[in-house]
Amino acid sequence: MHERFTTVALVAGVGCFALAWCLEAWLPLTHIGRIPVKTLEELAPEPTETFLELAELYPKSFKRAYGEPTADAFHDSLRHARDTYIAEGCWHCHSQFVRPVSNEDIRFGAVSTAAEYQNEMQLPQLLGTRRVGPDLSRSWNKHSTDWHVAHFFEPSWVVPTTVMPNYRWFFDENDEPNRTGIAMVTYVMWLGSWTEDWGDEIDEAGENDS
Ligand code: HEC
Repeated sequence: MHERFTTVALVAGVGCFALAWCLEAWLPLTHIGRIPVKTLEELAPEPTETFLELAELYPKSFKRAYGEPTADAFHDSLRHARDTYIAEGCWHCHSQFVRPVSNEDIRFGAVSTAAEYQNEMQLPQLLGTRRVGPDLSRSWNKHSTDWHVAHFFEPSWVVPTTVMPNYRWFFDENDEPNRTGIAMVTYVMWLGSWTEDWGDEIDEAGENDS
């Protein structure tokens, strides 16, 4: 009897593991594997208005960090921001995944699709683990450049009740955004902007949010 129980438990364990592997690894891979992974250059060929604006607002600091606001500099800043986002643990408090439940699309914009994660900026995916702050997948049209600069410097200046920590090391000795600060503002004002096909839908969602 005891032996039978062990055998059943073992077979069930291995069987369930195999089933989970098929459903959650092999099956998605057969689908997602067919969608090509885009490079950042393919995803966002030209610098965004924010990047150009930052070059005008903080000429000295910008020049020191990136030189001219070229496409190469723009890509360099976004990659640096993605690495900083991971290193600083922004993903402990923010998700980059709009779920098809709880009217999230009204609050955050169009529901996320698998194709959105098929690019180098989402390898590894930055889905996040929980949401202390809002989802950032569509953060591009939520606030102005100045708002983000102030928010990283001292979040409570723009949202008095916030629990987000300040990121003073994103700023230089003159309190101007440094290489990392410029990158982070560019990044959060870029997230979701390249999903142009859904522009109207996202704009409408943004209006409902206010
Ligand atoms: C301890 C949790 C926490 C951490 C860590 C954190 N945030 Fe936040 N964040 C929040 C909260 C809460 C809010 C909402 C209130 C506010 O705007 O400050 C927020 C708001 C934001 C907003 C504005 C979003 C919107 O739609 O209004 C952005 C952008 C943002 N965070 C980016 C970041 C980035 C980038 C990092 C990492 C460098 C980071 N956050 C780290 C908690 C956090």
